[in-house]
Formats: sequence, structure tokens, C-alpha cells
Amino acid sequence: MTPVVSTRELNDGHRLPVLGLGTYGLNGDAGTAAVGDAIRSGYRLLDTALNYGNEDAVGRAVRASDVPRSEFVVTSKLPGRHHGWDEAHRSVEESLANLGLESIDLYLIHWPNPSVGKFVDTWRALVDLRDSGVVRSIGVSNFTEEHLTQIIDATGVAPAVNQIELHPFFPQEAMRAVHERLGIVTESWSPLAKRSELLQEAPIRSAAAAHGVEPVQVVLRWHVQLGAVPVPKSGDAGRQRENLDVFGFTLTDDEMSAISGLERGRLWDGDPDTHEEM
Ligand SMILES: NC(=O)c1ccc[n+]([C@@H]2O[C@H](COP(=O)([O-])OP(=O)(O)OC[C@H]3O[C@@H](n4cnc5c(N)ncnc54)[C@H](OP(=O)(O)O)[C@@H]3O)[C@@H](O)[C@H]2O)c1
Repeated sequence: MTPVVSTRELNDGHRLPVLGLGTYGLNGDAGTAAVGDAIRSGYRLLDTALNYGNEDAVGRAVRASDVPRSEFVVTSKLPGRHHGWDEAHRSVEESLANLGLESIDLYLIHWPNPSVGKFVDTWRALVDLRDSGVVRSIGVSNFTEEHLTQIIDATGVAPAVNQIELHPFFPQEAMRAVHERLGIVTESWSPLAKRSELLQEAPIRSAAAAHGVEPVQVVLRWHVQLGAVPVPKSGDAGRQRENLDVFGFTLTDDEMSAISGLERGRLWDGDPDTHEEM
């Protein structure tokens, strides 16, 4: 039997797998095949976005799979150019058509784009889409504490999830504490720091040796023990399985601290207060 990743409860009562698949760059038939491999390995949380241009590839893999639809948490994201009440209602229809699915399980505002000044209206639209059953759970991505405060004050609804850049070079301690206080689950994007030189770092290599696992597994285990949900991307079936196989060992407190001590900042200039993505 394929091991399926365990789940945790969101603030709306629905459940989220504790580890998922990033799909940026998995496009076309090769993308569908790669996502299909991941589903067969046990991935149920699939992270796509309108702007990745691969909702069709992800949707095809879900529809072709014999896994019940109800087991999946298909996530997509609303782009900056579609902020606003009407625009958001149209955008979700575009994503649903691309996916070829009846509903989206987790729908996020991709970036706050504060200079556009519409993320609060956009959040109101997502609350409406959730209440009318078009999407199941709603959340945001790349929101700061200030952005979160604004949308919660305006609607009384806290996002189920905030997906933020998070990896050992950028552990996001302050945002994780904000999420904890507000009942929001942290998802980690670029959880492997896009692989980079992260896997060569001494605290990661020594923990890997101590537990007889691969450095990449130490990094993903670190996310899980922080209580953050990583969505590592791999197009390779073997590496997908490796990334999922992180539930048979536990990092010590010292190992966790040493890995968090690798902090040096964002991978690139993706500060949500200034970075705009349309
Ligand atoms: N919300 C946002 O603004 C935002 C921004 C960025 C990313 N994301 C999401 O987060 C996901 C993950 O981030 P990411 O794709 O930037 O980077 P990532 O997951 O940190 O790293 C992906 C890279 O690591 C490699 N890799 C994966 N597993 C490996 C393993 N076991 N051993 C060695 N190398 C491995 C992959 O290569 P192979 O494919 O060849 O294995 C790929 O080059 C994205 O796909 C996307 O869904 C969201």
C-alpha cells in the first residue's frame, strides 16, 4: 500500500497534508506525468497557480488518477492582475476551467501587491467564493502581519494558510509566531531553497549522517518539526519519493537550532511590501 501523508486541521475544519508537491515548472505532458508519479507515491497536496501555466497539467493528473477526488488538496492561486471583487470571481472560473475540476480545495491570493491596493477587496471575494462553495478553503501567500491584520479586520475571516518563503536560510521565526497567534497554517515555498548550496551546509550534512538519511530529507523534516507545511518541487519520481520519506526519524532540538542558525535572508528580493507580481 502506498503510504499517504498524514494531515492536520485547518481553522475552517478541513484538513491539509503535512507535506505537498510544488509544481512550478511541471508543464505539459511531462508535467502531467510527473504529477501522476507523485500521486502514485502518496502526494495529495498539489500546489499550482494560474501564473505557473500548468493548472491544465495538474488537473489532468488528478482526473486520470484512481485516487478519490476527496483525498486531494488541489491548491491554486489568484494572480496580481486579477485583484478585485469581479476580477477574482472571473479568475477562479478560469482556474477551474484550466484544471477541469468542479472546485478548488485551497485557493490563495498569490501576492498582496500593496501598491495595487485591492487585496482587501480580493479577500472579500475569496470569502464569498468559499461561502458559495466554489472553493473549499481560502488562504493567502506572501502576506505580512500588516496585510493579514487588514484582511482579518475587514472580514472577520482569518486565512486558513499563508504560503511564504521559508527554508533554513530564511526560517521566518516572526511570521511563524504571527501565524500561530492567528490560527493560520504556515506553508513553506522554495522549502529546499531551490536546492542551491543548502544541502552542502554542515549542520544539515551532520544531521543526515547521524540519522542515516539524505540531506534533503533533513531539510524537509526540519520544516515538519517547525510545524510548517513544505511543498518541495521535483519532476523526478525517485526524488519525489525521497522527499516524502521524512516521517521515520526525529531531529534533536540541537539539530533543529543548528539548522535554523543557517539564517541569512531571502533567496532573492521577494519582500512582499515591495515585490509586485501580476
Ligand atoms: N507562493 C509563491 O509565491 C511561491 C514562490 C515560489 C515557489 N512556490 C511554490 O513552492 C514550490 C517549491 O519551490 P521551488 O520549486 O521554488 O523550489 P524547491 O522546492 O525549494 O526546490 C526545487 C529544486 O530542488 C530540486 N530537488 C527536489 N527534490 C530534490 C532531491 N530529493 N534531491 C535533490 N534535488 C531535489 C528540484 O529538481 P528536480 O525537479 O530535478 O528534482 C528543483 O531544482 C514551487 O514549485 C511552487 O509550487 C510558491
